[in-house]
Amino acid sequence: MDILAIESSCDETAAAVVRDGREIISSVVATQIEEHRLYGGVVPEIASRRHCESICGVVSEALEKAGMAAKDVDAIAVSFAPGLVGALLVGVNFAKGLAFSLGKPLIPVHHIRGHIAANYLAHKELEPPYMCLVVSGSHSHIVKVKSHTEFETLGRTIDDAAGEAFDKAARAMGFPYPGGVFIDSAAKLGDSSKYKLPRPHTPNPYDFSFSGLKTAVLNLIHNTEQRGEEIDVNSLSACFQETVCEMLTEKFISAAVENNYKTIAVAGGVAANSGLRSALSKAADEHGMTLFAPPLSLCGDNAAMIGCQGYYEFTAGNIAKTNLNAYATMPLDEVRW
Ligand code: KG4
Ligand code: ZN
Repeated sequence: MDILAIESSCDETAAAVVRDGREIISSVVATQIEEHRLYGGVVPEIASRRHCESICGVVSEALEKAGMAAKDVDAIAVSFAPGLVGALLVGVNFAKGLAFSLGKPLIPVHHIRGHIAANYLAHKELEPPYMCLVVSGSHSHIVKVKSHTEFETLGRTIDDAAGEAFDKAARAMGFPYPGGVFIDSAAKLGDSSKYKLPRPHTPNPYDFSFSGLKTAVLNLIHNTEQRGEEIDVNSLSACFQETVCEMLTEKFISAAVENNYKTIAVAGGVAANSGLRSALSKAADEHGMTLFAPPLSLCGDNAAMIGCQGYYEFTAGNIAKTNLNAYATMPLDEVRW
């Protein structure tokens, strides 16, 4: 089954053709990051307009690279929640029009379910059940993946998402948006013991809290500057990254241990972080767990992951009608449309 998938939830317009949920036939991602960087973050109105301009070209390119015409695909999958509504609506309406005109099924895909599914594209042996840590620019979740379409969230952030914390701390340190990847590089050159950052506690042991950490980074920079001293950005990056990665890893691994999971996975943009990948892999080895992580090319937003999850949604009978709408928020274990 060949699925044409479309993704437009934030600042990437993406399209892909995925075969039987596991094989990427083509994948095209057009990023708008350079433009949003001028404003230090994603400007929703600009994102929607750029999706409008790019979507025809991106979908055509994905079909061309796959050597297919639109009529050759078996279904259209689209990211419909969560995300920036104006941005999602561009992909949703394009997918609706295409599905309607071709008489093909329209498959609604939850963006975060898509991030989790990115692992299936790279690891053919991975099958539920397993436990997944989802860390992106807007989500930090510990999730039981019970089947391809059944999930249970055990914990989540109570304030900022992990990626958001990286981006805010990076901004305070003078890095361009999105700063996660810059902190990752700078951390490799720094000494994480040079600074101390707090580890916020949460009432639910599986929840996360990152906003206090961001404030601590801002205060540390401010106080250092007031003393007329220079901040060591590499060491602050190393300390910040180590603190975030330890918090994520400790909570995630104890959730897996307490719930008897031996198979674990990580997904989302922050899954690209080298510190997180090595902390998780070390912890997995110590606990005799098997860890799956997507290749870096599939950690950030892309449409291949939407095509993969779309296959499993289709198999479970999840087909949308022509009144499909877009939603800014939606829990991944209570998907409705
Ligand atoms: O999943 P994603 O592409 O978009 C959302 O659905 O939110 O995640 C984007 C987030 C950004 O916050 C970005 O800074 C972060 O992922 N990110 C990283 C790294 N690469 C991307 N954070 C830390 N280290 C990285 N190497
Ligand atoms: Zn995403």
